Amino acid sequence: MIDKIYELFAQIGYVHPLHPALTHAPVGGVMVGFFLMVVAVLWRKPSLMTSSYHAICVAFALLLPTVAMGVLDWQHYYSGAWIFPIQMKIALAALLFVLLSITLIVGRKPNLRPLTMLVLCSLCLVNVMGLGYFGGGLIYGDRSAKKEEAFQAGHQVFINHCSGCHVNGGNIFYPNLALHSAPQLQSYETFIGFVRNPTLPDGTKGPMPNFTPAKLSDQQARDLYEYVVNRLAKTKRTDS
Ligand code: HEC
Repeated sequence: MIDKIYELFAQIGYVHPLHPALTHAPVGGVMVGFFLMVVAVLWRKPSLMTSSYHAICVAFALLLPTVAMGVLDWQHYYSGAWIFPIQMKIALAALLFVLLSITLIVGRKPNLRPLTMLVLCSLCLVNVMGLGYFGGGLIYGDRSAKKEEAFQAGHQVFINHCSGCHVNGGNIFYPNLALHSAPQLQSYETFIGFVRNPTLPDGTKGPMPNFTPAKLSDQQARDLYEYVVNRLAKTKRTDS
């Protein structure tokens, strides 16, 4: 169902995550609200409080669609994995909802003190900076992986299906089970066997999802293997 949405976007030429395209909307609303309040307090221009209030209204209205897209991206690109930056983002987004609601309710009071509004806007600002921090970490963690023509197809598959957990060829769950030094890279057969049905070294099921042919075709898996072996693989692990 979720994959269908992304296929639909891909058909019109949009192949990126959906959430980053929207994040600037609520973040921008909070930023504008905050700076207007700073001016309102420093230069004693109470009329700007109304403008600030309206900016916070915009941030509030756009928060839910942004969160919804974030949840979709999380399901699609990270297979809904319950990883730390995601936990932080969900907690901060929930807190932002509460903070913006309070700001909107308190901001309606007729004789509200500008300083109170400034404090509320500041809290919202710190919150969106935290959201940006963890979001940026998720996206740019993969920066150092070099794109090259020959392995572009495989690189794209890696970005779409693996990079969330295997940032820079590592492993965010088990750093000692890094992709770049995995014994499964020995041959394509071992690799595909593992990816279709991954297990932890002791044979039990770990957090890595199964990649069925419907999710990852044989051709995609081959491109992916070429990319991983030629561009990510570092050393063969000898200690396992
Ligand atoms: C949701 C997180 C997640 C995603 C997405 C993911 N992996 Fe993994 N991967 C893991 C975890 C956790 C392990 C440890 C084994 C397990 O969980 O079964 C692992 C282990 C591996 C290993 C073995 C590493 C070793 O040294 O033993 C390989 C190879 C691997 N993954 C390849 C891939 C490839 C290729 C993709 C993309 C098609 C992918 N993984 C997507 C989390 C993930």
